[in-house]
Amino acid sequence: MIVLGIESSCDETAAAVVEDGWRILSSVVSSQITIHRPYGGVVPELASRQHVKVIIPVIAEALQRADLEMSSVDVIAVTQGPGLVGSLLVGIGVAKGLAYASGKPLVAVNHLEGHIQAAFMNEAQPSFPIVALVVSGGHTNLYLVKDYGSIDLVGRTRDDAAGEAFDKVAKFLDLGYPGGVVIDSLARKGNPQAISFPRAYLERDSLDFSFSGIKTAVVNFVRKYAQTNQPNESSKPGVSGVAAKELPLPVADIVASFQEAVVEVLVEKTCTAAKRFQVRQVVVAGGVAANSRLRQRLQEEVGGLGLFLNLPAPELCTDNAAMIAAAGFHKLKHGDPPWELNFDAISRWPDVPAGS
Ligand code: KG4
Ligand code: ZN
Repeated sequence: MIVLGIESSCDETAAAVVEDGWRILSSVVSSQITIHRPYGGVVPELASRQHVKVIIPVIAEALQRADLEMSSVDVIAVTQGPGLVGSLLVGIGVAKGLAYASGKPLVAVNHLEGHIQAAFMNEAQPSFPIVALVVSGGHTNLYLVKDYGSIDLVGRTRDDAAGEAFDKVAKFLDLGYPGGVVIDSLARKGNPQAISFPRAYLERDSLDFSFSGIKTAVVNFVRKYAQTNQPNESSKPGVSGVAAKELPLPVADIVASFQEAVVEVLVEKTCTAAKRFQVRQVVVAGGVAANSRLRQRLQEEVGGLGLFLNLPAPELCTDNAAMIAAAGFHKLKHGDPPWELNFDAISRWPDVPAGS
């Protein structure tokens, strides 16, 4: 079965052609990084406008790279949410138009299910039950996946997502955008033990996360460091991120220590969940799963428990449409009927709260 996947939930316009839920025939991602970089974050209206501009060429390129015509596509799959509503509506509108014009079935997909599915591209087989950590710019969720379509949320962030913390720390230090990638590479030059930033484990047994405290700890550390080391007495108080950049700050040590603290909590809670639910397989997906230190520590710790760790290739961790096509395939294969063409975007997916 050939599925055309369409993804436009945030700042990437993506289309992909996937065969039988795992074989990627093409995957095209048009990034909006340069558009949002001057603002240090995604500007929703600019994102929607850019999706409108490029979505048709992106789909055409995906079909061309797969060497297929639209007539060879069996099913269209599109991200329904969660995400920026204006962005989602672009992908959904185009997918509905294609489905209506071609008479092909359309299936709507949860973006986070797509991220999990990215671990099973290229022949890897899921062995249920699975613990899945989906860690991105908008989410830090731990799931117990019992089967296709049977996914329980067992932990989630109570404030910032891990990717959001990376992005905010990078923005404060004026390191560039997107923050996660910059910190990942700069941290390789720093000492992860240099500064002891707090790790929020929350209540005993909790699988929830909290990353706003560590972000504040970085800000406080920089302000204090700047005040103690500021050569010019008159500019001591109220050091901003930009002003701090002009100081001889140990930036590589700061970001390496920050990254280490975030990674430690992510790895520890994932391993705790894997042991608690007695799974044999762990999946870690979403943009932050591309982080090299997180991948290394997961391999050590999850591997140390004797469990199988399934990490998607870095380009499948960040937003893409191959994962949406694969998730759409499995929805249909496991009994979901094709969608009517009157569904809406879901900006905030009503997830079952952890513990309820
Ligand atoms: O999954 P994704 O592409 O989009 C969302 O659905 O949010 O994730 C984007 C997030 C951003 O916060 C970005 O900074 C982070 O993933 N990210 C990384 C890395 N690559 C992307 N964070 C840490 N290290 C990386 N290498
Ligand atoms: Zn995502």
